[in-house]
Amino acid sequence: MIVTTKQLFAHAYGKYAVGAYNINNLEQTVGLFRGNLGKSDSNSDPTKPTVSAPFIIQISRGARSYSDKRFLEAMIRAAEEVFPEAIFAVHLDHGTEEVCYDCISSGFYSSVMIDASHEPFEKNIEITKRVTDRAHEKGISVEAELGQLGGIEEDIVGSVCLTEPDQAAEFVAKSGCDSLAVAIGTSHGAFKFSGSQGLRMDRIAEIKNVLSKNFPMVMHGSSSVPKEWVDRINAAGGQMKGSSGVDENQYLPAAKLGVCKVNIDTDGRLVWCAIHREAFRDDPANFDLRPPGKVFIKAYADYIAHKNSKLGSGGQLESLRASLKK
Ligand code: G3H
Ligand code: 13P
Ligand code: ZN
Repeated sequence: MIVTTKQLFAHAYGKYAVGAYNINNLEQTVGLFRGNLGKSDSNSDPTKPTVSAPFIIQISRGARSYSDKRFLEAMIRAAEEVFPEAIFAVHLDHGTEEVCYDCISSGFYSSVMIDASHEPFEKNIEITKRVTDRAHEKGISVEAELGQLGGIEEDIVGSVCLTEPDQAAEFVAKSGCDSLAVAIGTSHGAFKFSGSQGLRMDRIAEIKNVLSKNFPMVMHGSSSVPKEWVDRINAAGGQMKGSSGVDENQYLPAAKLGVCKVNIDTDGRLVWCAIHREAFRDDPANFDLRPPGKVFIKAYADYIAHKNSKLGSGGQLESLRASLKK
């Protein structure tokens, strides 16, 4: 069942974070639904307790143009039928104004992200406000971004681009956005930190203090870049030296401070990369795409279930379902 992102945040706020996972293809979609329902493969034991979780499916502009946005929409609709017990929202990740309008008018998306964080402060407010006004007419909520995600890959070191708490309060009040992506030390991709850098819990707390009660924050660049998967990639011929990610044990403390949505894309790519490299290494005679595809779906589902246990969303599905009926 597709619900609004607002409904997910209302249930999660201060208790756990909802995993927001990017998809691009069928195998990711199937693995994502199975993982969130605690069924890593179609033969899972139905008597085993599950750790089912609500979740957000994210679609980036790149995903929309990888094949065609209509394929993604059709796949999600099919998954909704195949997995009727799932509760999730559909979200546009890092939209431009134009793409936001396209998603708003499609009637398919629960929420959109307008990313004008690269613009000067006033311009960011102006653009975000235009999108918010249009989205709210259709009951769609808007995530905006303030500050810029740093990262050693962009040569941005230190706190220069972190979200300023005072600006955050003004930004939210003037733009009317429904949630705020905050720059709190993370960055996109598999190379997040060097040396002692890390997630800035202190800054999350400072921003929470200036926002109105229960206003949801969003953490981008949240992949943990697990050493296990990077080692498997490297052992199978990959070249990913020096990668690093967010400590998974920080998701829940961040959630308790009001981070309701945790964006994860890179980790899924790492699972995909390791499984396929190993498949080609270990079975060079195979040229059928389905054997590695099956292994990937199961591994990805297991990984999603693990992530949800760290986010605190694992085991929350039935409580959410009950709260939606009230
Ligand atoms: O934040 C970016 C996401 O990881 C999406 O990446 O634009 O390559 O699909 P993408
Ligand atoms: P990662 O690159 O850490 O997975 O972040 C994804 C993201 O923020 C998508 O918006
Ligand atoms: Zn992002």
